Amino acid sequence: MGEQISQDRPSKPLRKHGFVSALLERMTLAEKIGQLNQLQGGDAPDAELLEHVRAGAAGSVINSVDPTAIARMQRVAVEESRLGIPLLFARDVIHGFSLVAPIPLGQAATFDPGVLEDCARIAAEEASRNGITWTFAPMLDIARDARWGRIAESLGEDPVLAGRLAAAMVRGFQGESLAEPTSLAACAKHFVGYGAVEAGRDYATTLIPPNEMRNVYLPPFRDAVAAGCATLMTSFSDLDGVPATANAELLDDILRREWGYAGVVVSDWESVSQLAIHGIAEDRCDAARQAMLAGVDVDMASESYADFLAQLVADNRVSEAVIDLAAARVLALKLALGLFDDPRIPNGRGVSDIPESWSSGVYDAAVKSAVLLKNEAATLPLKQGSCKTIAVIGPLADAAHDQMGTWVFDGDPGLSVTCLQALRDRVGDVEFTYAPGLSDSRSRDESGLADAAAVAEDADLALLFLGEEAILSGEAHCRADIDLPGAQELLLARVAATGTPVVVVILAGRPLTLAGALPHCQAMLYAWHPGSMAGPAIADLLFGAAIPSGKLPVSFPRMVGQIPIHYNHKRGGKPASDDSWVHIDDIEPLAPQTSLGMTSFHLDAGFQPQFPFGFGLSYVEFKYRDLSLDRRELKPGEQLTASVTLCNNGDLEAEEVVQLYLCDLVGSVTRPVRELKEFRRVTLGPGEQKQVDFVLHSDQLRFYGRANEEVLEPGEFHLWIGGSSTCELRAGFRLLPPD
Ligand code: NOJ
Repeated sequence: MGEQISQDRPSKPLRKHGFVSALLERMTLAEKIGQLNQLQGGDAPDAELLEHVRAGAAGSVINSVDPTAIARMQRVAVEESRLGIPLLFARDVIHGFSLVAPIPLGQAATFDPGVLEDCARIAAEEASRNGITWTFAPMLDIARDARWGRIAESLGEDPVLAGRLAAAMVRGFQGESLAEPTSLAACAKHFVGYGAVEAGRDYATTLIPPNEMRNVYLPPFRDAVAAGCATLMTSFSDLDGVPATANAELLDDILRREWGYAGVVVSDWESVSQLAIHGIAEDRCDAARQAMLAGVDVDMASESYADFLAQLVADNRVSEAVIDLAAARVLALKLALGLFDDPRIPNGRGVSDIPESWSSGVYDAAVKSAVLLKNEAATLPLKQGSCKTIAVIGPLADAAHDQMGTWVFDGDPGLSVTCLQALRDRVGDVEFTYAPGLSDSRSRDESGLADAAAVAEDADLALLFLGEEAILSGEAHCRADIDLPGAQELLLARVAATGTPVVVVILAGRPLTLAGALPHCQAMLYAWHPGSMAGPAIADLLFGAAIPSGKLPVSFPRMVGQIPIHYNHKRGGKPASDDSWVHIDDIEPLAPQTSLGMTSFHLDAGFQPQFPFGFGLSYVEFKYRDLSLDRRELKPGEQLTASVTLCNNGDLEAEEVVQLYLCDLVGSVTRPVRELKEFRRVTLGPGEQKQVDFVLHSDQLRFYGRANEEVLEPGEFHLWIGGSSTCELRAGFRLLPPD
């Protein structure tokens, strides 16, 4: 049973087939239930916790990172418990351990699976030194709502992008083989639909029509499963009336039966006992029954399984066979990790040196994740020598903690190089003056604004580091207003009023509404929360030692009221166009009821985002031409090649993320106006041009149709290739029916 787990491929044959079932036969019911119980650890395990471990009443421990504590607990498990079954040590190693890479949303802006694989590998190597064996990442919730604080942890709004990047992260965390000592079990979360919480408010209800669930929310999880992700976490949320943690249709029918997933399913934090709070279970006992029968193997932190499963078995309300299956999956994971042969007991107090290759890995990610949103009159890159004095302003210029972003339990601000520090260290011949203006990103205290304006006045250029502190995004940190918080817009306006040219760098955990800020700057670089190496990456980008190449993994609304706004929306029956909408300020007095266009738009915001998905400028201009297809007709099972010529019209070597979009013109259900199908980073030297080819297989035209089954429907398709989701170079082809 459990041994079928697909990632069970240790480098050496450590245990014989049948090991798990033989072990299971020797286990008491209490010991089996113990494997399903995830206890909260901490860094000083008390006698009670150690006694649980000794009794075999815990299979895994969450939130212990101290190597001495981990070593102590693991020794008790393997040396003092009856069967010597090792523990799993779980931790949210989301985008780094003590060394921190950009937030996942920033990493997604690289559109580069290699970058995400590298960042996950670095995190795994560092966390595994301390004895961690299980991380709760990647987070694969499709996120179309920037109010939701957890958009920071997501890979954005697109299922294909998220799925490709998810697979890369799984590879990075899990390495070549789970049995390698630096491999962590990855965890695809939160299954599923959490990103659709109403009003972008964390933990709120989600309502997702089945067809949208299939076409949008499930695909990244299927990709993670296909990549061998060892574990998966259920979502906190109530999905169409059935919380994910009690949702057998999702866990049993789709995940296990349809996709053949053989790995472990873990609940989210106390999401088993929360079934009673949702009002779908009578009490914690009923909650344990429902979660167990739905297919949740491990109860994170609520101890409902520990408290009630034995009684539920005695009462014939849960069969022991179900518990056997769940325990077998946990044991199979431990086997795959090689823990029965090497329980990975950390020695000493962990290793604290950070190899240069790790720092350069997270630096590279920070460089590639930054998105250049505006660059009027080629303000950037700045030229050393042409600016004698630069005024560095803003609450995030020197923010060692905040630049790391959310989910950095183990992040070490001592490893952060801030923007101010890096500018002073790396850029010669320029005097950097500094006035933060505001003490933090939320501050409304205007007393520092005059100082900031004064240093700007005396400088050749003002460089503002604005955005959000780390605490303003992440779990339970949602915002209803996503403008720059506090008095930052005022600070920017005051600085701009001095007449000194202004460059803005935004460090934030979500897309912000930037309509109030954009007019006050000549250039804007969106750096997300870039992590430990924010400073060197941003200094290099500003001064041209690195060239911006990030692209938006999520659409940026002009106004919060446009949310949800995403590029892959449906066409609708009355789509808006540039000339079909009227701005509220342009309405004539007493205008007739039907005179405003009668199409789908907001009177005050129009119908387009501030910046579309896939958008991002470079210091060079990339031109696309000669889009061609090697065939205009395709049968099921066949593929076509789409080619385009990409030209670098600038005088610098630069990278471009080339993107291929499709539209299926007519379907049995309405289809998105565009869908990303392929993307690739391409490097071109100054003046160079290159042909870029994409192979598109007919399987990539599949979707879930009217009966909610996967279909391949013949018909016309449009195909675009370019540098964003609004690219215009288009070709067409036809999918023929099968012979
Ligand atoms: C709750 C979060 O939703 C989840 O993402 C995380 O992994 C767990 N807590 C464990 O910290």
